Amino acid sequence: MNNEANVSRRAAELRARLNRAAHQYYTLDAPELPDAEYDRLFRELQAIEAEHPALRTPDSPTQRVGGAVLDTLAPVRHAVPMLSIRTETDTSPQGAATFDQRVRDYLASEQRRTLLKLDDERHRSQPLGPAAQAVLAGAPIDYVAEPKFDGLAMSLRYEHGVLVQAATRGDGETGEDVTHNIRTIGQIPLRLVAPTLAAARAALPPEGAGFALGRPGGETAAGVPPLLEVRGEVYMRRDDFERLNEVMRQRMAAGDKAAKTFVNPRNTAAGAVRQLDAALAAERRLSFFAYGLGEVTAPADGGPRFDTHWAVLQALKSWGFPVSALARQARGASELIAFHADVAAQRDALPFDIDGVVYKVDSLELQRELGFVTREPRWAVAHKYPAQEELTTVQAIDVQVGRTGKLTPVAKLAPVFVGGVTVTNATLHNELEARRKDVRVGDTVVVRRAGDVIPEVVSVLPDQRPPGTAEFTMPASCPVCGSAVVREEGEADHRCTGGLFCPAQRKQALLHFASRKAMDIEGLGDKLVEQLVDGNVVRSLPDLYRMGLVSLSALDRMAEKSAQNLLDALKRSKDTTLSRFLFALGIRHVGEATAKDLARHFGTLDALMDATPKQLAQVSDVGPVVAESVHAFFAEPHNREVVEQLRAAGVHWSEAAPTPGATLPLAGQTVVLTGTLPTLTREQAQALLEAAGAKVAGSVSKKTSYVIAGAEAGSKLDKARALGVPVLDEAGLQALLAGGA
Ligand code: IVH
Repeated sequence: MNNEANVSRRAAELRARLNRAAHQYYTLDAPELPDAEYDRLFRELQAIEAEHPALRTPDSPTQRVGGAVLDTLAPVRHAVPMLSIRTETDTSPQGAATFDQRVRDYLASEQRRTLLKLDDERHRSQPLGPAAQAVLAGAPIDYVAEPKFDGLAMSLRYEHGVLVQAATRGDGETGEDVTHNIRTIGQIPLRLVAPTLAAARAALPPEGAGFALGRPGGETAAGVPPLLEVRGEVYMRRDDFERLNEVMRQRMAAGDKAAKTFVNPRNTAAGAVRQLDAALAAERRLSFFAYGLGEVTAPADGGPRFDTHWAVLQALKSWGFPVSALARQARGASELIAFHADVAAQRDALPFDIDGVVYKVDSLELQRELGFVTREPRWAVAHKYPAQEELTTVQAIDVQVGRTGKLTPVAKLAPVFVGGVTVTNATLHNELEARRKDVRVGDTVVVRRAGDVIPEVVSVLPDQRPPGTAEFTMPASCPVCGSAVVREEGEADHRCTGGLFCPAQRKQALLHFASRKAMDIEGLGDKLVEQLVDGNVVRSLPDLYRMGLVSLSALDRMAEKSAQNLLDALKRSKDTTLSRFLFALGIRHVGEATAKDLARHFGTLDALMDATPKQLAQVSDVGPVVAESVHAFFAEPHNREVVEQLRAAGVHWSEAAPTPGATLPLAGQTVVLTGTLPTLTREQAQALLEAAGAKVAGSVSKKTSYVIAGAEAGSKLDKARALGVPVLDEAGLQALLAGGA
């Protein structure tokens, strides 16, 4: 073999290896080739192609990086039109049943038509096939249910297994050629793999010997039709979207005038796909799901024969396309309804946006018989979920005051139904954030509400801004109590300095004090606290315990029975623990976990109140900021008085002997146990370690302090060695516990 042939062979081998690695990495999410090795092979292929341009084939992974810059996007006529799906008007879960009934009704009407010989040009003269007959006899219809991906439709054309063209949907008849951008999507195969992954693996030469996809001479792997159009959705994952916006924000901060943030993943994906410069498209990581076929070689000419849509999805997967793992076969309306609910429950946790689900009749014969109305198939329907984004206008920007005095700008919105509820408020977080988005009174904004997440203003529509608006600024004094507003060095938040003098802070402080993980005062909620503070019944925390039946019953909407219930709850709350009490005080930076650490370390409230910042900082997980905050809180005479009054009112707990973590030999250390120790059981070893202050973890990381390894230790031991984590045996453990390691 001459040198030329050798080089050509090597190039083919590299293309195949790299394409296979891309499939494993992007589609199967199971990379087998280390990144560095991928890079090395990639550079080798680039070098070969630079020297022998004739070897640069369209399926070469080097063509993914985005070199092409076009003047315009060329029109592409779709041989098989790209249809849209009808949206079910019944958005309730019952919409699935409505669709199912419509399919049945249509089949019944077709049956009547053939029986009455009403067939004319528009109607069938063929009797309905066995699948339809079964349905007419009452059998449930088999469907495939899939997510409705929120991206843009794409048609990918493969000739002899090689991607030759990618086109947008356009008007369904004619789209645009966006091949240069689509090549940059890692999940889209440039050349198709063998029919099934198992078969592909079985056909593999031994590892390292190179893997030739297809056969020499450019033949396609078996099972892939010579002409194949794959239809699917190009979309952008939420994390890729967030990352892109983060990069854009950094660029904007660095003064890059061309940088801008994007509104949502769908628009970003659509914009990327229609770029003229492929390098710009490559910057925005896009993804793909295949969900159907376009033009395909007929079975008579060597194409595969499919009976069901499900089989089509399986084939797509076997050819190397990403197919959603959520897609499912469903029998009858009831299983469609279950799918609708199941996917709805997962919607917010999915890594990508969906706007609903799609139901498709599984049998391709039935699909043909059902046909189309105008441009929409009768055999499919889109069943949407409530939109998570809507447009509305900003009527005002209020500033709310939180428990710690933090001021939060909140956009008051014209009521809008989004994410299944009517939204009238959306937080703008802080001044910086409000200005970054440049939200102004009068603006038209995109509001997003996903699941239980609090509604958010995503962006402003700048060209809808009315004249004469002003940029948002924080007030200089608290809108509730008038105290000065400050912003501490290096912090994004503005704060009211009024403390408990500020009614807003007082209300929040009371609600926090009463909350379940604090004093757990049942029945002391929003409305009641509002009345108590506004009516000046409660001015401080101890006032809560001074209320009587008479003053409570005098309040609006407070029957004697509920007043008595509240008094009982207050009484019960007095029997508490030191950590709950500490948490309830609402000291800045002292959350539930820190309160527990402090209580355990100091044992008594007096010891804690008198501790210096230095002593406080000795508590595990307490840093200088927290220590300073706790010290400052108790240095304030007013706060000490509140504590004393609460104690005088009967709030009590049992004070334990202090167990300062710092004196425990293994405080702050993380230990992992693996294998069988000669004398100690795993539980015993764990108990000893925990008693010595160590945390016992399940997996090894760089942060692991020690790995204790017994007999038959497995991968944890390997990992410890790889990371250089000290490994001890049982004797070593005993020494460690004795403080000797
Ligand atoms: S099938 C004839 N399946 O929704 C049916 N479409 O109006 C052709 N879409 O433009 C489409 N997820 O971009 C199908 N699982 C899915 C889909 C899906 C999203 C989009 C598609 C199309 C629109 C239909």
